[in-house]
Amino acid sequence: MRVRTAVIPCAGKGTRFQPITRTVPKELLPIVAKPALQLVVEECAGAGIDHVVLVSSHAKPAIAAFALDVTEHMPGMRMSVAYQDEPLGLGHAVGCARAAVGDEPFAVLLPDELMGDSSLLAQMIDVCERTGGSVVGLKQVPREEVPAYGVIDPSGEMNADGVVAVRTMVEKPSLAEAPSDLIIIGRYVLTNDVFDLIDQVQPGAKGEIQLTDALRVQAASGPFHGVLSRIQRHDTGNPLGWLTAVVDIALDDPTLSAPFESWLRERLAP
Ligand code: G1P
Repeated sequence: MRVRTAVIPCAGKGTRFQPITRTVPKELLPIVAKPALQLVVEECAGAGIDHVVLVSSHAKPAIAAFALDVTEHMPGMRMSVAYQDEPLGLGHAVGCARAAVGDEPFAVLLPDELMGDSSLLAQMIDVCERTGGSVVGLKQVPREEVPAYGVIDPSGEMNADGVVAVRTMVEKPSLAEAPSDLIIIGRYVLTNDVFDLIDQVQPGAKGEIQLTDALRVQAASGPFHGVLSRIQRHDTGNPLGWLTAVVDIALDDPTLSAPFESWLRERLAP
């Protein structure tokens, strides 16, 4: 079945960005002139997705206003808003999108992470459509970083396209328990049965309903793959990551790059 819908969880409080996030949602912070969330919606469009479900909270009405703006300015993209008013975890957030998603497979994109283009998502959708199983985006990181993430246990070798079968996975393992150095990044393409599994998941790491815990059940009973990302990725979940994303994108912007670079060189000159 074709993957046409994406879920983007946007209900977080953005505590690492206070005080700005008391009035402006973290997902709408500008990356030059675009809200970060717009870049994520554009990534979806580039991978053939034509329906985006934003999981917001009633404390963040600007997210629904953004959805309306996309509907008006991005022809062919349908936007829905679902609500998660309590921070019960990523799995719970995805579960809140169930009615809006319907019975189809769907993508999940965590908007803290900005990808250079749509190619990883497009490849993951292709793997899901070919195998009939869920797919997660992967990145290899230094071993000491893995306890902050979901970590997969690969079964077998990764192929030349970066695709690897996944035996199981664990959310935020200790260093000793981590099955590999391959972390799950914020890109998923999931089969629809995950909604029933989320309903059965008990609170896990951080006392939250973890998406990884539902995906582990999927991986135990059918095809499940990871795809290694080879594209540019910025984690804008903290102020330094947001700043480097802005600088990187400004340096690639044809109207800004030359004057910005000359200012930056002068500013950094000894
Ligand atoms: C979430 C997921 C985790 C994943 C990470 C990627 O964790 O639960 O499996 O590795 O996103 O950024 P969070 O960053 O919300 O703690």
